[in-house]
Amino acid sequence: MNYLITGGAGFIGSHLCEKLLNRGDKVTCLDNFDDYYPKPIKIENVNHLKENPRFQLITGDVCDIDNTIDLLESKKIDMVVHLAGRSGVGRSIKNPIDFITVNTKGTAAILEALKEVDVRKIVHISTSSIYGQKTKAPFLESSGFGQPYSVYSATKQSAEHFVQMYHHLYGIDAVILRIFSVFGPKQPPESGVYQFVKANITGKNLSLYGGGNIERDYTYIDDIITGIVAGMDFLAQSKSPTHEVFNLGSGQSDSINEVLESIEKITGRKTLTIEKSNKADALFPSYASIEKASKFLDYAPKTPFSVGMKNTIDWIKKELEK
Ligand SMILES: NC(=O)c1ccc[n+]([C@@H]2O[C@H](COP(=O)([O-])OP(=O)(O)OC[C@H]3O[C@@H](n4cnc5c(N)ncnc54)[C@H](O)[C@@H]3O)[C@@H](O)[C@H]2O)c1
Repeated sequence: MNYLITGGAGFIGSHLCEKLLNRGDKVTCLDNFDDYYPKPIKIENVNHLKENPRFQLITGDVCDIDNTIDLLESKKIDMVVHLAGRSGVGRSIKNPIDFITVNTKGTAAILEALKEVDVRKIVHISTSSIYGQKTKAPFLESSGFGQPYSVYSATKQSAEHFVQMYHHLYGIDAVILRIFSVFGPKQPPESGVYQFVKANITGKNLSLYGGGNIERDYTYIDDIITGIVAGMDFLAQSKSPTHEVFNLGSGQSDSINEVLESIEKITGRKTLTIEKSNKADALFPSYASIEKASKFLDYAPKTPFSVGMKNTIDWIKKELEK
């Protein structure tokens, strides 16, 4: 198969490109190397893939509809996996227009391009943040959208609305994957687990919210990639019309204190913490029901937390030594 992966130079995207190349697919990676974190990190994420003749890296913006139409036609794309986006609750509140532009307009632009050419399949990568603040965990796909607590959450909700609308208006078949917190090598330096590990290794204070009791659902990157590929294969094999939503998480919650303990067990070093007041996304527990993904995608995360965390720590150590 021939895939267009938007945001393919990022954390999740670069792992996905590699997995697809390893199983013999052709991959066109579209990424604008935004300034959310340093460009050299993203270049390194995909540098080793460039030698593969089935891989092509295109520097471009998902908001550029003509460019996407050109890629869909010239590369004979069968399916788009749309990962390009801006993430981060705090950053989204500080930069609302950037988030609206990339997450909402960017998704609409990809859908417009799909509408114009004969490519009718998209896997759209969404987030647990669409469940908002008041939904009770575990989150079910049928729980629907909760009250958005950040610009990030509102833009990802609206992106899902556009995917659904283009399905109904123009017959674009879609699988939406709502991903919970992911960790592993190549994760962005601003992300939670990276910050926890960095504070532990460097001995600097880590700002904690809610006494470290905030519960999140953490999944190792390899398991998420297996889930995304299963979602892609599900869509490839589905008859039209298809519009399905799946959660991809671990199906359990861990508090930040538990994550810190697991890091401390591996490094043998205590993390210094200082308590801060609540953030917008802070206190509510969030974890996935993965029953639907398990039933239809045969999704079953396998990596023990301690194994995934050891790989992550080893990678972050090397990054910090650079
Ligand atoms: N990492 C997580 O824990 C997590 C959890 C839930 C959902 N997600 C979603 O998964 C997707 C990927 O996240 P990630 O963690 O890999 O983040 P990331 O920042 O590493 O990757 C996003 C990529 O998109 C690219 N990009 C941004 N704007 C673009 C534009 N206008 N045109 C083209 N490319 C653009 C960036 O340069 C980057 O390479 C996002 O949509 C995010 O909302 C991630």
